[in-house]
Amino acid sequence: MDMTTRYMGLTLKNPLVASAGPLSEHLDNIRRLEDNGAAAVVMFSLFEEQIRHDTAALDFFFNLGRDRFAEAASYLPEIQDYDVGPGQYLDLLRKASEAVDIPIIASLNGISEHGWVTFAKEMQDAGASGIELNVYYIPTEPFRSGSEVEQQYVNVLSAVKARVTVPVAIKLGPYFSSFADMASQLDEAGADAFVLFNRFYQPDFDIETGTVMRSLTLSRPDEIRLPLLWIALLYGRVSASLAATTGVHGPIEVIKYLMAGANVVMSTSAVLQEGPSFFARVLAEMTDWMEKKGYTSVDQMRGSMSQASVIDPTAFVRGNYIKTLENYTKTTDITARLARLKPY
Ligand SMILES: Cc1cc2nc3c(=O)[nH]c(=O)nc-3n(C[C@H](O)[C@H](O)[C@H](O)COP(=O)(O)O)c2cc1C
Repeated sequence: MDMTTRYMGLTLKNPLVASAGPLSEHLDNIRRLEDNGAAAVVMFSLFEEQIRHDTAALDFFFNLGRDRFAEAASYLPEIQDYDVGPGQYLDLLRKASEAVDIPIIASLNGISEHGWVTFAKEMQDAGASGIELNVYYIPTEPFRSGSEVEQQYVNVLSAVKARVTVPVAIKLGPYFSSFADMASQLDEAGADAFVLFNRFYQPDFDIETGTVMRSLTLSRPDEIRLPLLWIALLYGRVSASLAATTGVHGPIEVIKYLMAGANVVMSTSAVLQEGPSFFARVLAEMTDWMEKKGYTSVDQMRGSMSQASVIDPTAFVRGNYIKTLENYTKTTDITARLARLKPY
């Protein structure tokens, strides 16, 4: 079985990649990810605020929920062990790149195109095979237009691209009024890959204490649908590679994402729950499935369910929504259901 795949100009031994997350904070864990078959590791993010010494935002991903995942306790470092300084990040990146044979992709997380982007070059010099730029941005300013926000994404990508020769991926959220256009603009600006999608932190309320709860929930497999849709829609339409992130908990999600057109499929939540051996299990199970179905390579499977390949491309868009609703009303006796409902 030929499991190799091309991703942002790199040749990977298989399409399974460890996405940015706390596991990469320790060299031992990066080794364990490689030993279990991960084809590349995206390191946790270094935030613009860290580089600019704006300590207010430092603990964003790292403190959130760290003590909530009992399963992860054995391989997650204590927060006090975690030194978030840029110097330490580069040091770990350098050690990781030397310690393993798989590519290490460094992650920069920010929104402005100013001074901090020069750090991308330092990441490259420290051995990063690529940079993943996470534009984690929730535009809350009134009177800031959608096109201004989009231009900011293009600017920050261009600023990073101008400083490095290694490939640059951009990790995005789905909330644009025209995602396909945004992707095209970033494609033109030279994005080497799209990582779809950022899973935005959504606070919850504790109604007893009247407080905003800062808890991070791990993903579930049914969350793959939005990235799956957009990967299927973008496949063959952009030059950039496509990485799927969100909801990958087993071989089924990996296979679906590959069929939609992903070059690689990433995972964090499942690895936090199961440990690095998640990769070995999924690799074995998906290879087994592919053999049974007569596939000889990952390339053969890629994009087979994308909009470019399916017989009815309307299955991805509005036409299918209308058909689905029609079908629901035909097959569901709504009047009878409503009659059974008790009035308030
Ligand atoms: C505890 C935790 C820490 C994370 N840290 C980062 C990070 O530093 N940078 C980043 O781009 N994404 C980060 N993520 C997001 C993951 O890389 C991934 O995109 C997201 O969790 C969806 O994938 P999953 O369903 O496999 O978890 C983090 C996720 C979790 C759960």
